[in-house]
Amino acid sequence: MSSQKTWGGRFSGSTDERVEAFTESISFDRRLYLQDVQGSQAHARMLAEVGLLSSAEAEQICAALTEIKQQIERGEMTFSIKLEDIHTHIERALIERLGDVGRKLHTGRSRNDQVATDVKLWVRDAIDQLDLLLLSLQKALVEAAADSLDLVLPGYTHLQRAQPVLGAHYFLAYVEKYQRDRERLQDTRKRVNVLPLGAAALAGTSLPIDRESVARKLGFASVARNSLDVSSDRDFLLEFVFDLSVIALHLSGWAEEWILWATTEFNFLELPDAFCTGSSIMPHKKNPDVLELIRGKAARVVGDLQQLLVLVRGLPLAYNRDLQEDKTALFDAFDTVAASLELAAPLIAQTRFRRDVIAARLEDGYLDATTLMEYCISQGVPMRAAHEAVGKLVRLCEERGCRLADLSADVYESVRPGLSSGVYQVLGVANALQAFRSFGSTAPTQVESQVTWWRQQLGIG
Ligand code: ARG
Repeated sequence: MSSQKTWGGRFSGSTDERVEAFTESISFDRRLYLQDVQGSQAHARMLAEVGLLSSAEAEQICAALTEIKQQIERGEMTFSIKLEDIHTHIERALIERLGDVGRKLHTGRSRNDQVATDVKLWVRDAIDQLDLLLLSLQKALVEAAADSLDLVLPGYTHLQRAQPVLGAHYFLAYVEKYQRDRERLQDTRKRVNVLPLGAAALAGTSLPIDRESVARKLGFASVARNSLDVSSDRDFLLEFVFDLSVIALHLSGWAEEWILWATTEFNFLELPDAFCTGSSIMPHKKNPDVLELIRGKAARVVGDLQQLLVLVRGLPLAYNRDLQEDKTALFDAFDTVAASLELAAPLIAQTRFRRDVIAARLEDGYLDATTLMEYCISQGVPMRAAHEAVGKLVRLCEERGCRLADLSADVYESVRPGLSSGVYQVLGVANALQAFRSFGSTAPTQVESQVTWWRQQLGIG
């Protein structure tokens, strides 16, 4: 069997079958086939440019690689753990087709720089896909914001009613989070987009390869300066899966919020039937399973990040086989986040807020108390004294079972003479909301211009 192996020459005995099963990666790295073919085609053309292959040989190799790619896509490639990984499968298929010409492809290259290149090409593509998914989600959120400029929500801290916020302000908060996620991915992309190929096993090669040419062909912005570093570098994966983890965490917080808001207790929103499931025993149930799984699957992504962090811990330079284990975490994290993002956008677009229910309870919980305090400050009451006074008024309301707006002018006069004349213009949630003015606040004019700004930013017509 050693004859099948690309490294068989050194060995006289065959590999233990248990070792083949233990060391294979073809069961998961076959996903890299496209990147492996692209990388090999660029490598072959470069080898012809520098005279290590004839141009006829390079063209034969490139054409055969395209056929192999199509064979894989038609599901006609037989995968075997005897051939370890995707790189060996493709090289073996090439040699079967082209004989000695195929045997020349791996000139000036190692699987160590090859796999690093393939993974970088894959991650670059994944980042571009994620950017589109995040953009769709942002668009759904901006549309929801535009529809919620007249919706007032209770804003929470510590999950206790705090101050009123516009529905549009609420949705745009998530647009900001996903914007940072997109920017973070673009920043990671800069470090992904540096070519490893040509580092060979660890030290480079004595052959006259042209790495700049390979970089140009594959769209890499630059060539890695240090072969020892880049053949072992997986920092870009740690970063990428961290970026994915942050997205997953943003999704999970929102999912938790809407799971709560869909309860009878909150009753703020009606989730679309298409995104809920029922109970096998309780006929009345409509469960928010999609949101629960978006929340739950975030755990996997964070687990994947943990796996990668621990994987690279203590690895000496340069390539170590441990690094083969990076791919399961990478693929799982990407698949999980992409699937969640694909569901989040339509779920948001189809969810209806129960505006009547929200409005009916908006005056509960003293959402206007902080605005009242700020009004007192504007009338000359020192901040701490105003805080104290409003705290006492809230206690009084609790005793009387009333709202701040129900307290008499005499009560406000006792806080500070003259206060009662304007105070009722800031009391009540609708008034309190109108009182906001700072940049970035929930002031309706602020929020309206933010919605307009985001529409322009995201190219929404
Ligand atoms: N399947 C391997 C991986 O994913 C490819 C590199 C193997 N290199 C080696 N020297 N055995 O890491």
